[in-house]
Amino acid sequence: MKILYVTSELSPLASTGGLGDVAGSLPAALRREGLDVRVVMPLYKIIKQTYASKLQFLRWSIIRLGWRTMYSGLFTMEVDGVPVYLIDNDFYFGHDSLYIDYSFDIERFSFFQRAVLEALGEPMGFEPDILHLNDWQTGMIPVLLESHYKKCGFHLHVSSMITLHNLKHQGIHSKEVVLDLLDLPAEYMTETGVLMNGVPNFLKAGITYSSRVTTVSPNYSREIMTDYFGEGLNQLLLSQSWKISGILNGIDTELYDPASDPEIASTYTSKAWIKGKSLCKKSLQEELGLPKQAKTPLFAMVTRLDSQKGLDLLLHILDELLAEDIQLVVLGTGDPSYEKRLQDAQGRHPERMRAVLAYDRHLARRIYAGADVFLMPSIFEPCGLSQMIAMRYGTLPLVRQTGGLADTVEPYNKYEKTGTGFGFLNINAHELLFTCKEAAHVYREDRESWDNMVKTAMEGDYSWSRSAGEYEALYREILEETR
Ligand code: GLC
Repeated sequence: MKILYVTSELSPLASTGGLGDVAGSLPAALRREGLDVRVVMPLYKIIKQTYASKLQFLRWSIIRLGWRTMYSGLFTMEVDGVPVYLIDNDFYFGHDSLYIDYSFDIERFSFFQRAVLEALGEPMGFEPDILHLNDWQTGMIPVLLESHYKKCGFHLHVSSMITLHNLKHQGIHSKEVVLDLLDLPAEYMTETGVLMNGVPNFLKAGITYSSRVTTVSPNYSREIMTDYFGEGLNQLLLSQSWKISGILNGIDTELYDPASDPEIASTYTSKAWIKGKSLCKKSLQEELGLPKQAKTPLFAMVTRLDSQKGLDLLLHILDELLAEDIQLVVLGTGDPSYEKRLQDAQGRHPERMRAVLAYDRHLARRIYAGADVFLMPSIFEPCGLSQMIAMRYGTLPLVRQTGGLADTVEPYNKYEKTGTGFGFLNINAHELLFTCKEAAHVYREDRESWDNMVKTAMEGDYSWSRSAGEYEALYREILEETR
């Protein structure tokens, strides 16, 4: 079975968050199951700079994008045993960041999608059976495949499926712009085609024209069919629910392994973690310049600073929370207003809080290992990976029970004294605060429950082998339908 995984991010080459992590670990896991999975992505500036000696040039061609004629280079390199193809064009991808602005991104990923289809088959030396697409940046591929290729007799046996990592971003622009970029025949510019409420919508197109749609957790696949989580696409999703399923993400359990992580002050296992973890905590407190108090619960958040992640809830109760005997570290970058408010909070609570405004994968691992409680008060969360990483490091997640957070964290049950974390249900800042207080209370007063929970959390299976089989089954279903 030949699968081409099409993505705008791939960790460790170029990534801004969860999509990059998934792209960096799922294809390798599927290859271990014996599938020929390869990846295609843009050749961003950062990749060119970092991996110059590894990149192998395959060919170049000219792509037509409306009135533009653009150079498109095709390179390849191997990442973790996975062949990766990279689409080169400096005008579109030679920038410091992966995403730039709304309008230009539409053009950049229109180019990317056309270039991917041009590269299939002979140029790549690979004709996939299935294109596995991800998010809006790839949503027009099944439409273009049909309108520009299959209708002319090319790539007749290639099918598509799309994974929705986040419904909030859909890739929407005016008819004029999209027509100009993609030369779509008029028959596709309808409400049953690529239009959603009168305007082209890349994600909607991807959902409509793909053979299957997956989301990154079972719970999110149900949530998106409701008004609240559907971001305007819920009716469409409901009407196509027969082809939608939720497959839980996994994490890279080799990279995130407290038993062997070279990044952390002391390694530890689920059988013997108390000493190692307390050394990691002490060294983290030292690194952050926080008082080295072993008994003070250390709360942490590693996140994109985006409203999705529940930062408004946290900021609303931050002063009340830090009036308790707890410490807090937040690591992340994003919305400048959150950056400022977090920095201000650190100024008010220098003995208790650190805001590290950076995207730092190394410090992230020292935080996963050194913290006691990991906060994820998300407003919505298609899957979430950090809670799984935290559990693997024995740091108990405190989550709002939504999306994949509800699928992966078993909230503390005070009667049974069980769980793998703490949970609250409503989008309510004081519910978050009370749950934090409860976690701090269990941490201090009920060590037996705490230690059991840490052990259970650490022993959970968060690997891709849990769900790789579900992807494989889905690929087979698609193949059987088209053969
Ligand atoms: C997006 C979602 C996150 C998910 C990730 C990987 O970043 O917001 O919940 O875990 O994609 O699928």
